[in-house]
Amino acid sequence: MSKERLVVAVVGATGAVGREMLKTLEEREFPAYEVRALASARSAGTTVPFKGGELTVQELTEDSFGDVDIALFSAGGGTSAKFAPHAVKAGCVVVDNSSQWRMDERCPLVVPEVNPDDLKWHNGIIANPNCSTIQMVVALKPLHDAATIRRVVVSTYQAVSGTGQKAIDELETQVRQMFNLQEPEAKVYPHRIAFNCLPHIDVFLEDGYTKEERKMIEETVKIMGDASIKVTATTVRVPVFYGHSESLNVETEKKLTAAQARAVLSQAPGVTVLDNPEEKIYPMAIDAAGEDDTFVGRIREDHTIENGLNMWVVADNLRKGAALNAVQVAEELIDRSLLDIGDPDKFL
Ligand code: A2P
Repeated sequence: MSKERLVVAVVGATGAVGREMLKTLEEREFPAYEVRALASARSAGTTVPFKGGELTVQELTEDSFGDVDIALFSAGGGTSAKFAPHAVKAGCVVVDNSSQWRMDERCPLVVPEVNPDDLKWHNGIIANPNCSTIQMVVALKPLHDAATIRRVVVSTYQAVSGTGQKAIDELETQVRQMFNLQEPEAKVYPHRIAFNCLPHIDVFLEDGYTKEERKMIEETVKIMGDASIKVTATTVRVPVFYGHSESLNVETEKKLTAAQARAVLSQAPGVTVLDNPEEKIYPMAIDAAGEDDTFVGRIREDHTIENGLNMWVVADNLRKGAALNAVQVAEELIDRSLLDIGDPDKFL
């Protein structure tokens, strides 16, 4: 089914990702007849910029979705848990950016460059993966197709915007406070983030990993559709506003030289290879911010194992890591005529 007059709602439109979703819909000329901005009662009546004008924010309620075709959610897991089932009940397809539905067997977890065919079996809610996972699998998929990945060791350097607008504000405030010789206040993070690195993203689990690390491990297997890929992760928050960086160590079944890996990645959708160390060219967060692609560089062989590669992967966490991926999923749903939701009571 394709709809003539598509109504799209952005849930969490006042947040860092929600604003980026609106910008992405605008930039990509998403075929929406109407775009609606929804957030909490706190923001109702305020405005958010869209297409040179403004949208008035409406309060999200269970009844917000009667005439909405696609809802892009980025308002936290609790909000998705509560409201996404009502959206589906009303016949609206949900693309959800929270972690609420990612490992739910009823919900595909989709990165359009990697597993677009999983959209075929959606039941009304499609999950957008974790920001760190998205950019990693965009780089891993072409290597997996070429040489079969056995194991990945990833360490992340994640920007504060991944935590939301309040964390962007906190880093800025702390930097100002420190330059004014004031005691920096930590409210969002458990410690100061300005001029510091926190090896702690999301909560700690019983085995010593953080939930962010667990997400990278489990989500990668679900997206790649291959339970034999082993992933281990260390996730770190760094004092960067926009753009997540990742160090990847990848072990493959077949040998890939650095040159072969570079060639494979150069042809991959959504990837730009930036890899000329002699000219000091490599991916950096300051260059990736505001860009759509995932940037890969520092590609080199790992001499400690038979078939191993090291690389450095950077992407804009609010764009490819969140808003852009969600909008791409919505575009695929339209292109593939997949806006029917089947059983509307599946999630209630
Ligand atoms: P609001 O601004 O009204 O609180 P960020 O991740 O940048 O902090 O943004 C979170 C987004 O999720 C904001 O748009 C926020 O709206 C929205 N949000 C948070 N809780 C709710 C809720 N209970 N109902 C609707 N929107 C919510």
